[in-house]
Amino acid sequence: MTSASIRVVGLSGSLRQGSYNSAALRAAQALAPDGMTIDTAAIGDLPLYNEDLRAAGYPPEVARLRAQIASADAVLFVTPEYNYSISGVLKNAIDWASRPPDQPFEGKPVAMMGASGGLFGTARAQNHLRQMLVFLNAHPINKPQVMIGQAAGKFDEAGNLTDEPTRQHIRGLLESLAAWTQRLRAGAVAKAE
Ligand SMILES: Cc1cc2nc3c(=O)[nH]c(=O)nc-3n(C[C@H](O)[C@H](O)[C@H](O)COP(=O)(O)O)c2cc1C
Repeated sequence: MTSASIRVVGLSGSLRQGSYNSAALRAAQALAPDGMTIDTAAIGDLPLYNEDLRAAGYPPEVARLRAQIASADAVLFVTPEYNYSISGVLKNAIDWASRPPDQPFEGKPVAMMGASGGLFGTARAQNHLRQMLVFLNAHPINKPQVMIGQAAGKFDEAGNLTDEPTRQHIRGLLESLAAWTQRLRAGAVAKAE
């Protein structure tokens, strides 16, 4: 099986126009290995999580997000770091998607990266995200870890990722995600036989 058949859904945890994280997601779309496609999921229009809303039936924006994740072969999170964790916007999306029935992260291959103004490039936020993925029973790849620190110096004014080592790093992350997705698929087929 080649990476030609891998469809990834990417979630950026920042809503601002000039977001470095959304810019990194756009860079990933352009850097994806042959045949891998990365669609983006909108999460800015989701209501704040409210169990009463869920009880009345998933709001259409939430249903759309859940379906997008469920139908993707893999998920790419691009997370900012807010107060040493992921952004509330991203947490809200994860919380909505995580509820039963058929929570769509179950068994899903996942990659993550992030951009921040600080030196550590979302290291602490990514650790929090990894912890959430345990409960969601998703399968994140461990390495490479893509932490884009001091992000302002790595993108141009138009939001293009200009830092070549970071571009290579993202490429490596996506190649690793492709290999991991194929490995999990092969395991699932073998188990079914
Ligand atoms: C509420 C808030 C908390 C932040 N906390 C951190 C932090 O803990 N670590 C860090 O490196 N940067 C922190 N920052 C700065 C962000 O890294 C910076 O604003 C970054 O550009 C956000 O990502 P974006 O460009 O995708 O919007 C924080 C910014 C905000 C708005």
